[in-house]
Amino acid sequence: MTAQLNARGDVAVLVPAAGAGLRLGPGGPKALRPLAGEPLLVHAIRRVAAAPSVRMIVVAAPAAEVGAVRELLAPVAPVTVVAGGAERQESVALALAAVPAEIEIVLVHDAARALTPPRLIESVAAAVRAGHPAVIPVLPVVDTIKQVGPGEGGGPGEVVLGTVDRSVLRSVQTPQGFRHDVLASVHGSAAHAHTDDAGLVEKAGLPVTCVPGSELAMKITRPLDLILAEALLAVP
Ligand code: CTP
Ligand code: MG
Repeated sequence: MTAQLNARGDVAVLVPAAGAGLRLGPGGPKALRPLAGEPLLVHAIRRVAAAPSVRMIVVAAPAAEVGAVRELLAPVAPVTVVAGGAERQESVALALAAVPAEIEIVLVHDAARALTPPRLIESVAAAVRAGHPAVIPVLPVVDTIKQVGPGEGGGPGEVVLGTVDRSVLRSVQTPQGFRHDVLASVHGSAAHAHTDDAGLVEKAGLPVTCVPGSELAMKITRPLDLILAEALLAVP
C-alpha cells in the first residue's frame, strides 16, 4: 500500500532514519530521541509533509523499530515505513524500492536535519523539475580549512601541509534531489561508500547543481546540536 499525501504533488521524499546516533552519546536511535518533548523524527516528518510538492514520504527506520515508527508517525502524516540497513546508503536504497515508477522526482533527506524548512524542500524539488538531474543545498564554509599530514619523525602531532581556498568550498546539506531514473541507476550500481547521494551521481559523471541551503537544515549530530535545535524551537 502506498501512503499518499498530496495527490497533486510530484515528489517522493526518502527519509533515512535508521542510524544509531552514536555521536549523540548513549540513548537509543537518534530519530527517536526527544527534541523539545517530541521524537526528532516527528519534527522532521512534519516539515517534509508541509511542503506542497510532496506526494509520498518513505521512512527507513531502525529494523527493530519499524512498528513503533509506524505508530509514532500515523498521527503526523501518511508515510510508508521500511526497515533501514546497516549503512545510510543501504537505507536509502531500501526506501527507494518503495517508490512507484510514475513519481519522477525523488528527494533524499536526513531525519537528523529535523528543523529543515519546507521551503528548502520546495526549492530543491523546483530545481529538479526545471531539468537538473541532481540538486544539492549548500552553504559557504565558515572555518578556515587546512590540509594536514603526519609530523616529521612520526611523532603524535599532525602538521599543516597547506591552507585550502575556502571560497570554492561548500558545506552540503539535504534534501538532495534527483530525477528518479538517475537515483535508481546510481544506487543500482553503487558500492556502499558514499556519505551522500549526490556523490554517487558525481561518480557517474553527471552534473550536480547547487542551490542555497539553510542554517536551519543543520544536521543534529553531537549533543551541542540538540541544545541548539531546542533553542531554535523555543524562538517564537
Ligand atoms: N542513517 C540511516 N541508516 C544508517 C545510518 C544512518 O538511515 N544505517 C540515517 C540517519 O538516521 C540520519 C542520516 O542517515 O538521519 C544521517 O546520518 P548520521 O547523521 O550519521 O546519523 P547516525 O548514523 O544515526 O549518527 P552516528 O553516525 O553519530 O551514529
Ligand atoms: Mg552515521
